[in-house]
Amino acid sequence: MKRISLTQHLVEEQRLNNTIPAELRLLIEVVARACKTISHAVGKGALGDVLGTAGSENVQGEVQKKLDVISNEILLEANEWGGHLAAMASEEMETIHLIPHRYPMGEYMLLFDPLDGSSNIDVNVSIGTIFSVLKAPEGMQTPTEKDFLQPGNKQVAAGYAVYGPQTVLVLTTGHGVNCFTLDREMGSWVLTQRDMQIPDQTKEFAINASNARHWQPPVKRYIDEMLAGGTGPRGKEFNMRWIASMVADVHRILNRGGIFMYPADEREPDKPGKLRLMYEANPMAFIVEQAGGAATNGQQRIMDIQPEKLHQRVPVFLGSKAEVELVTSYHQA
Ligand code: AHG
Ligand code: MN
Ligand code: MN
Ligand code: MN
Repeated sequence: MKRISLTQHLVEEQRLNNTIPAELRLLIEVVARACKTISHAVGKGALGDVLGTAGSENVQGEVQKKLDVISNEILLEANEWGGHLAAMASEEMETIHLIPHRYPMGEYMLLFDPLDGSSNIDVNVSIGTIFSVLKAPEGMQTPTEKDFLQPGNKQVAAGYAVYGPQTVLVLTTGHGVNCFTLDREMGSWVLTQRDMQIPDQTKEFAINASNARHWQPPVKRYIDEMLAGGTGPRGKEFNMRWIASMVADVHRILNRGGIFMYPADEREPDKPGKLRLMYEANPMAFIVEQAGGAATNGQQRIMDIQPEKLHQRVPVFLGSKAEVELVTSYHQA
């Protein structure tokens, strides 16, 4: 395959589909550049004094790691001045971040999980960044949190970076999914997988099984049937994988098929699962659907959920279509 850069790919996609306005292209390139900077910081580890906790708590009630805070700062700084954004929102910030008055305001809004898989930072396991791009509502003056509350089907772009053995960037603008690998020597993103497709048949599932006693009956049934193996109703052996970084689990599923689940927890009826709709579930759902997979909350398509709050949580079932449809049908039975 002839190697082309992220820039060339975006320019060519714009020519072909006429779907990536120059401002959106610039935005994506700036986010990609920020991910490069985060990758560099991650790679330094103890040598860069980036491990451990920051001594603060975020709005989710989680203890912030130094890299949560550093990555958030990198994304804010990189995206403030370009003139392509109206505002930003992040897992690590209680409310939205407005573009300072000294810079022009653009028509897009960026949401991100700056560092996904925080519990893996200090043990040198893959972590990542997830982002989602929305358009500002028509006629918007000063952006408010309400302007962000658009369903995932309104996303114009979404992507994630994985900081692992390789640093990769997976991106969709609504015309399939492509993967770019960071050439660390050259500092450039190189297209390495075109039009990724999730295999429909799978024997792998990802769930934090330590929560099994708190799952609702449809999830228990679905998992029990898989665990029953070749002599059970599914008639085949399944294998389990759980990295505890959504980016890494989703990346495996994108390449190898499988289903990723973070269901609701019966202990906390007011807290439907752990993952956040706006900057985890929606961008991943967009990517997974664009790669031929499916993503639901057990009841409905994730991207059709009307958000009510910026940091809203949602149960997540995503990956190979047949599996997501099966577990979703158990919820509706
Ligand atoms: P974050 O580090 O951004 O807060 O997200 C962590 C999420 C997700 O990446 C992962 O799938 C899940 O939390 C891990 O949950 P467990 O702690 O239950 O394994
Ligand atoms: Mn977190
Ligand atoms: Mn996360
Ligand atoms: Mn995070």
